[in-house]
Amino acid sequence: MQLKLGSVTVVTTNSPDMARQFLKTHDSTFASRPRLAAGKHTTYNYSNITWSACGPHWRQGRKIMLTHLFSLKSLEAYERVRVEERSDFLARLHGSRGEHVRVKDHLSRLNLSVMSRIVLGRNHFTGSNNHRNDRSSGESGVLRLEEIQKILDELFSISAAFVVGNCIPWLARLDLKGYVKRMKILGQKFDEFLEFCIDEHMMARNGQPKGPAKDMMDVLLDLADDPDLEVKLTIDNVKGFTLDLLAGGTDTAATTVEWAMAELMKNPEKINTAAEELDRVIGRGRWVEEKDTPNLPYLDAILKGNFQAAPGWLAAHPARGPQRLPSRTLPHFQRHFGPDQPVEHGSEPGRVGLSGGVPSGEVFEQGH
Ligand code: HEM
Repeated sequence: MQLKLGSVTVVTTNSPDMARQFLKTHDSTFASRPRLAAGKHTTYNYSNITWSACGPHWRQGRKIMLTHLFSLKSLEAYERVRVEERSDFLARLHGSRGEHVRVKDHLSRLNLSVMSRIVLGRNHFTGSNNHRNDRSSGESGVLRLEEIQKILDELFSISAAFVVGNCIPWLARLDLKGYVKRMKILGQKFDEFLEFCIDEHMMARNGQPKGPAKDMMDVLLDLADDPDLEVKLTIDNVKGFTLDLLAGGTDTAATTVEWAMAELMKNPEKINTAAEELDRVIGRGRWVEEKDTPNLPYLDAILKGNFQAAPGWLAAHPARGPQRLPSRTLPHFQRHFGPDQPVEHGSEPGRVGLSGGVPSGEVFEQGH
């Protein structure tokens, strides 16, 4: 569907075929991000990866993540953290037996705890205590889970809000619905927390140990000191990347697992088949480990099917240049569009972007 939002032409789609056109076939044209208010105010003026335009900074950011976080070596090194947190998660769920629980809250807590330990070296989020980001207390730098969850929920909802100034720039300074004000408050909250974490890491570098091993923030701070990096990494970049990891790695994974559980509950025969596979391959005497995955093809297929059925949200993708799209899937797009240049057959100047998701049940290969 094509929409005209102020001076911006937007395409939304729920067709996997169309999404493939934008995200795979014409990836080089649509790989970038628009400069929207959310990226400016919540992530240090587009200093992170998620909101940064396609270019050397974005490429370098992705390379850093791939090398230091998602490489086989790093994934293996952090497995212990995942195992420990998963076992705490299961113990908490087991402890709540007989009560109504919101599974998503437990999953979010699990993911936040894992990401916090991997990225910041320790768990900064607690479900039981009431410490604030108080540098004078013994347990400083700890946020209550409800608090961080509220902050992250606000981040996701405000990033998806319709901000008039994004489409009608001359109205931006009026902040008609107050979203920008909320973004600035949110940015401030993140900054207080991240400043604390950076201070803690800096002190550790100066001889006040904070923990045994290097975490992702240590790696980023080392890189910020590296004069040979292709693109200089600033402290704002360190904060922006950290935020990407905490926000990107929490809600997405929790929603995906929650979705999978809901789908399985609707299909009990699939639960039985999966349970039968687990009994046969693993038995009842031990927990499933990550290295078991290749031996559990049915469970693996459930996970892959779930990613296809519920690939999650997409951030907006602006066009970087003219692009002809196939008439078969988008007849009214049989013309060229480009950023900040007139639409060929339209009367007004426009930019084209893509946003949207793919509905449940449709198959779409989502690259990451
Ligand atoms: C089930 C888990 C996850 C799902 C379903 C998911 C989904 C997505 C989607 C749909 C996008 C947007 C892609 C686009 O617009 O082209 C994205 C981007 C991103 N995700 Fe995830 N994600 C997951 C886990 C994670 C984790 C664990 C992390 C970090 C630890 C993460 C970090 C990011 C980052 C940094 C981006 C921006 C990448 C870029 O702009 O190049 N995600 N994710």
